[in-house]
Amino acid sequence: MFISFEGIDGAGKTTQIELLKNYLFKMGVEFISIREPGGTLLAEKIRTILLDPEISMPDRAELLLFEAARADLIDKVIKPNLEKGKIVICDRFYDSTTAYQSYGRGIDFEKTLDLHEFTVNNIHPDKTIFLNISLEESARRIRSKRKDRMEQSGDEFFKKVYNGFQELVKKYPNRIKMINANDSIKNIHENILNELKL
Ligand code: TMP
Repeated sequence: MFISFEGIDGAGKTTQIELLKNYLFKMGVEFISIREPGGTLLAEKIRTILLDPEISMPDRAELLLFEAARADLIDKVIKPNLEKGKIVICDRFYDSTTAYQSYGRGIDFEKTLDLHEFTVNNIHPDKTIFLNISLEESARRIRSKRKDRMEQSGDEFFKKVYNGFQELVKKYPNRIKMINANDSIKNIHENILNELKL
């Protein structure tokens, strides 16, 4: 089973993924947990470039770098572990690219989806947990943090990303499950287990 977690910055994905990992560990279920961009030597190096505030790049290059990191992760980590029957938990996957690079940066939607197909080679998440917080709450949660290149993109950009995620939830209701992330950490965790039927 392949599970991805999505949400705007500050939605609490890391906390909830940790709780899910603890739960699976206690249940004796085999799993791996990775983040995007990242999870391989190449993808971690690409991540450093993508998040570096000193580096500027065209939107097309940004899109292609996220996809390049994903292709490596698919071949080296996600596919082999799914073949071994493990649960794969991924902190962000291609819905982030659709939300940030297509809805956010304005890259053509169909082209972006075609590129995902090319990148993932028929590997798709079975379920996607979308942790929903408001833009105001996101801004509040990342305010004190030193902002990376993506987080420096400005309010207008984040509004488009936020709206993009809401669109994606509507477009793929069977796969993407929206969870209210303004709730208590414990309630959110229980709602996630319910949605995943774990
Ligand atoms: P993170 O902060 O969740 O680790 O993600 C890194 C940043 O990269 C975050 O601001 C979201 C952004 N991102 C994209 O813009 N496109 C993508 O495809 C992915 C995976 C992340």
